[in-house]
Amino acid sequence: MMDYGTIPKEGIDKEQLLEEMRSYRESDADWRAGRTWSLVYYAGDEHYEFLKEAYTLFFSENGLNPMAFKSLKRMEGEVVRMAASMLHGDRQVVGTMTSGGTESILMAVKAARERAKILKRLPLRPEIVAPRTIHPAFSKAAHYFGARMRYVPVDEQFRADVDALREAIGPRTMLVAASAPQYPHGMIDPIEEIATIAKEREIPFHVDACFGGFLLPWVEELGYPIPVFDFRIDGVTSMSADCHKYGFAAKGASVVLYRNMDYLRHQFFVEADFPGGIYASPTMAGTRPGGAIAAAWAAMKALGRDGYRELARRAMDAADDLKRHLQTIDGLEILGSEHTTIVTFGSCDEAVDIYAVADQMQQNGWALDRQHKPACLHCTVNAHNGPIIDDFSDDLQRAVKRVRQNPELASQGEAAMYGMMAKIPVRSAVEMSVRKVMEQLYGPDGGDLDLSSIGDDEDSDWMLRLVDRYGDQALKWLEKATDWWSGVRRK
Ligand SMILES: Cc1ncc(COP(=O)(O)O)c(C=O)c1O
Repeated sequence: MMDYGTIPKEGIDKEQLLEEMRSYRESDADWRAGRTWSLVYYAGDEHYEFLKEAYTLFFSENGLNPMAFKSLKRMEGEVVRMAASMLHGDRQVVGTMTSGGTESILMAVKAARERAKILKRLPLRPEIVAPRTIHPAFSKAAHYFGARMRYVPVDEQFRADVDALREAIGPRTMLVAASAPQYPHGMIDPIEEIATIAKEREIPFHVDACFGGFLLPWVEELGYPIPVFDFRIDGVTSMSADCHKYGFAAKGASVVLYRNMDYLRHQFFVEADFPGGIYASPTMAGTRPGGAIAAAWAAMKALGRDGYRELARRAMDAADDLKRHLQTIDGLEILGSEHTTIVTFGSCDEAVDIYAVADQMQQNGWALDRQHKPACLHCTVNAHNGPIIDDFSDDLQRAVKRVRQNPELASQGEAAMYGMMAKIPVRSAVEMSVRKVMEQLYGPDGGDLDLSSIGDDEDSDWMLRLVDRYGDQALKWLEKATDWWSGVRRK
């Protein structure tokens, strides 16, 4: 028997290892057949094989030192320039590549903080003002860099409430952020109006186009009514766009761009006294994998604008097709989903529990994201999902019917857990529960993800009993208490 806890004394036969690794994939999400609606962006086998070749050409090279690997610096520079022109930036727009959307956002927040410091405008407890639908990478950045999130609500179309945002900006605001589009419901925030406010108040404004940066420019060219969201708008000072999403590059590649060097320079880190030599690093990472830079460069050059537009056309056609099907399923309603390939839907019938529908779909091999506030399911549509839209819709129709006929399904399986999690009004209790699961997952005996213990703790338990006993009234009290407490903490 193989011992999985130590490095084997003697190396194992490579063929045997490859075979074993292939077998591990059997329980993974089946993305190639188009049954997975997120996580993987796929532009066909030929492109995929080409990417692998490009990646392996620079497999060992390290983008940390641009003097040692001029090839990587050149390719990074070209990726940045191509992305800047795609997003209508002028020659002054500069930036770097990062390992992904999260790192790009971390860098934009860090640069905003450093810039505010230099300008002597950094308050004691700096805040990032953003709509509630902004990606959690911002609260991660706030957490890492000693800032706070100040969330503003979204309107009924899931776009930032501009009046609330204007109100939320204050002396502590160091950055305003919004999305093009936001991930949960695929809506573009009112970027132009927000930019005007940010500019008036002289606060940097980041547009998170991690999802849409490599998609919206082509969707706009295809004639869809897309609001302007990029460097054409004066008050936009930085943007992020992910090569490893609709840029169809290898994983580990994104771009963060700034209006000019006045912003980017605050991203850099230099340590002049390290005995190992002067250390200069443009991003979070030290060693920067050359393969990811090379594959991003190769993807952009190989697909070209025509290739991207064609992939965007096929993805938008598939998304439109899916929306048409959804409109015919009694009990479901589309939420947001106006601007891109994100299609989100929930239930408009009390007898249809949307999480139970997700469970039924999962049993049929479909992987869907479960979202909350409001409860809904999310599909990120790609060109390769096109051929399976009919099958998906048929299965969905059946799943809805089954859930309606079997109401007990709402209190079974994952539906029970997601339903319960959404009910717990004090979110720190949910956070604690999830943290415990992470400790198990990454503990010494860490193994498969077991979600059954979420909410199964004392804090959640008393809240749920309260809600069971006093119903909606208890929810309202708890929510009020939580709002009041958040207000106190903010002050
Ligand atoms: C709008 C948006 N921003 C940021 C991110 C974070 O990107 P990554 O997962 O590459 O770190 C995502 C990921 O889905 C996203 O959709």
